Amino acid sequence: MKVTVGVTGGVAAYKAAELVRALQRQALDVHVVMTEAAQHFIQPLTFASLTGHKVITSLWESGSDESIEHIDAATSTDALVVAPATANVLAKFAQGIADDFLATMYLATTAPVIVSPAMNVNMWNHPATRANLALLEDRGVRIVSPDSGYLACGMVGSGRLAETETIVQAVLDVLHRSNDLAGETILITAGGTREAIDPVRFLGNRSSGKMGYALAEAALRRGARVILVSAPTALRAPLGCELVSVTTTEEMRTAVLRRLDEATIVIKAAAVADYRPVVPSGQKLKRSGPLTIELQPTEDILAEVVQRRREGLLVIGFDAETENALAHGRDKLLRKGADAIVLNDVSREGIGFDSDRNAVTFLTRQTALNFPEMSKRELANRILEEVMSLRRPQTVVAER
Ligand SMILES: Cc1cc2nc3c(=O)[nH]c(=O)nc-3n(C[C@H](O)[C@H](O)[C@H](O)COP(=O)(O)O)c2cc1C
Repeated sequence: MKVTVGVTGGVAAYKAAELVRALQRQALDVHVVMTEAAQHFIQPLTFASLTGHKVITSLWESGSDESIEHIDAATSTDALVVAPATANVLAKFAQGIADDFLATMYLATTAPVIVSPAMNVNMWNHPATRANLALLEDRGVRIVSPDSGYLACGMVGSGRLAETETIVQAVLDVLHRSNDLAGETILITAGGTREAIDPVRFLGNRSSGKMGYALAEAALRRGARVILVSAPTALRAPLGCELVSVTTTEEMRTAVLRRLDEATIVIKAAAVADYRPVVPSGQKLKRSGPLTIELQPTEDILAEVVQRRREGLLVIGFDAETENALAHGRDKLLRKGADAIVLNDVSREGIGFDSDRNAVTFLTRQTALNFPEMSKRELANRILEEVMSLRRPQTVVAER
C-alpha cells in the first residue's frame, strides 16, 4: 500500500524522517511531498534517500508529459498523512486553497487524510486554527492532536508533534490495517441513566453518550467485538456493535452483569444516576407547593464488576469531577479497584458533557497521563491505546 507523507514548514519537520521509517517498518510504500517552507528545515535528499523515490517539492516540475503529477499522486495514494502540519496548511486545506503541490493533492485525493499539527501553543489555540480543524474533522480528515510539553519556541503547552507511534497507529487505522483489538470483546456502557420520578419525569444527567459511542466505533474499527450497553441517547449506534438499550441504573447493572462473562475489557463510560426516588409516583405529580422526594442510592455497577472480575478482565471506569479532580479520581480508582479511571474535569467550559471535544486524565495506580483537549473520536483511540498498554508488562513506574 502506498502512503504519502506531506511535510510542511515547521520545526518538527525533521521528525517526519522518523515517521517515514516507522511507516516503512509497516511494509508501506512511502512517498514524500514537501512544501517550499519545509525545505528550509530539512532537505528533500533525506527523504529521497530514505524512500528511494523522488521527493515532490513543486507543482511545476512534472516528471513526464503524459501525466499530471499531482492528480497521479492524489489518485494513486492509499492515504495522505501531513506531519508536521503547519497552521498555514490547515488553513489552506480548510479553505480549499490549492496553490502548491501538497494543497492541490489534498483537494484532488479521495484517499483518507490525516493531519498531525505542530506549532506554537498560541497558534494552536487561536480561534482560526480551531475553526479550521473543526471544519477539516467534519469533512472526515483524521486529526492527530499535538502533545503538550516544552515547545521549540520556548513556551510550554500544546503544540508538540504527536509521538511517531500515535501517527503510525492513525495511518494503520485509516488503512483498516489496524487490528490490534482483534480477539477482544469490549463491553462499553454509554449515556446517562434515568430514574423515574413519575410517569413523565425523571432524574437524569447531562451525559450525551458521545464518548462511549466514540469508544465503541473506534474499538470496532480496530477489530474488537463490541457490546454497547446504552442508556437513552440521541445517537445512532455504530454499525456492527451489539446494542443493549437500557434506561435505569438497575437495568444497566443487569445488562452488564449478564454479558460480563463474554467481555475481556469493560469500559464504563456511562454516567449513571447515583440516586433514585424510593417510590416513584404512579401518577403525574401536580404542582402544589414545595415537593420533597426521598431518594435512595442506586447500585454501584463498577464495584460489582470489579468484585466479579475473572483473571485477565480489564476494568476501566470513568469519573466526572467538578473540584479536586485528581484527588477524587485517585480515590475512586483505589476504592473501586479498577485498572484505570478516565478522569473528566467537567467544570471546564466548552468540553465534556454534550460536547464533541474533551480533555481527560488517564489514571492508573502508577501513572497520570493528561490528554489535552481533542475530539472525542480521537480521544477514543488514545484511550484504547492506553487500555491495551495495560495488557503489556509495566516496566516504567513514573508520573508521565
Ligand atoms: C523558524 C520557524 C519555525 C516555524 N515553525 C512553525 C511550526 O512549528 N508550526 C507552524 O505552523 N508554523 C511554523 N512556522 C511558520 C511556517 O513556516 C509558515 O507559516 C509557512 O508559511 C508555512 O508554510 P507551509 O504550510 O506551506 O509549509 C515557522 C516559521 C519559522 C521561520
